[in-house]
This record gives sequence, structure tokens and C-alpha cells, in this order.
Amino acid sequence: NQEEFMQKLAAIKVCPVVVIDDAEDAVPLARALEAGGLPMAEVTFRTEAAAESIARIAREVPGVIVGAGTVLDREQCARAIDAGAQFIVAPSFSDEVAQYAIGHGVAYCPGTCTPTDIANALRYNLPMVKFFPAEAYGGLKTIKALASVFPQLKFMPTGGVNPQNVNDYLAFDKIISVGGTWVCKKDLVRAKDWDGISRACHE
Ligand code: 3PG
Repeated sequence: NQEEFMQKLAAIKVCPVVVIDDAEDAVPLARALEAGGLPMAEVTFRTEAAAESIARIAREVPGVIVGAGTVLDREQCARAIDAGAQFIVAPSFSDEVAQYAIGHGVAYCPGTCTPTDIANALRYNLPMVKFFPAEAYGGLKTIKALASVFPQLKFMPTGGVNPQNVNDYLAFDKIISVGGTWVCKKDLVRAKDWDGISRACHE
């Protein structure tokens, strides 16, 4: 559920966003994340392999907390949860996804970047939101301004977060974790460079 997910996120601090084209890559990729010390994977529904990848990680790599990203509608949310997703992330906010995820006891972290987006999320008493795309929408400065009017809320900035700015984000106490694709870069996945992914986790 939401509280459990937040505790895990707060401990890991970086949620690797992964784009998997071939479900055969899912298990070695998840093991590389675990070996690198970031035992979490947000598998994006931007590829056909997403649901099968989540199912394989959930079955074969139990040490990795696996969830779904880029979940835009109820149908994708249902497929993600059926496959074993332990959390649902999106670039946007959706009532139907909120209702479905919460109804199934699965954490939902919607994408927001304006006060109105956040107010929509708060109708479901969500304790945290993703702030996306973080760097393009003003980064830490904007999050601090939003946090001043939503003091109870935690944020997960994603979009443009990288090894150079990650510590600035994580130093703000309202930021529970960051998300990003830099750990599982496309070329590393394509080259099946699992050691390279573990090294990126360490970095
Ligand atoms: C996402 O899926 O959340 C974004 O693509 C992550 O943004 P990044 O590629 O800048 O890390």
C-alpha cells in the first residue's frame, strides 16, 4: 500500500525508470539493479514488453520492488497490477487510475506540475506525487514553492534528474526520492551491459 511503498522509496531514494523492449532482458536488468544497490524498477508502459517484464521480475527477482510507469489509463493500470506491479507511476494524474489502484491496494504516484494537478491528487488523500518534468518546470525552486502551500505532501521529482543534481534534490526534506532513466540508459540495455547498469547505480 501507499505507506509501505513510501517507506521503501525513502530508503532507496532513487527509483530507476526502465524501458524494456524485450521481456527477455527484464530479469538480468532487475538483477543488475539489485546488485548495484537500487532494488527498484519502474517499468514503463511505453513498450509492448512492459506487462510481461513486470511479471517476470515479480516472479524471479523477489528482492526488487517492481512497479509500472507511464500508466495513463485504467486498462494499463489493470494489466500492470495483474502482472504483479507493486506501485503505479504516471507522468499525469488520472481519476480512473487513482480509483483502480487505490481500490486494489496498490500505491499510486501520479505526475503533477501545477497546484491544480496536486489538488486533484489530494482528493484521493495521496501522500506523495511525482513532479514531472522536474528540470523543465523549474526544478527544486518550483518544488519548494509548491511545498510551501502543500506542507503535508512529499515529492518525487523526475525528468532531467541526473548524477550532477540528484543530491541537491534529495537534500530537501519534502523530496522522498527521485526518479530517472539515467541509471538504465537505453544504450546500456540495448548492449545488455548489465555490469554497466550496476555501475550506474553505484554512481
Ligand atoms: C519518465 O519516464 O519518468 C521520464 O522519462 C524520466 O525522465 P528522464 O529521462 O529525464 O530521467
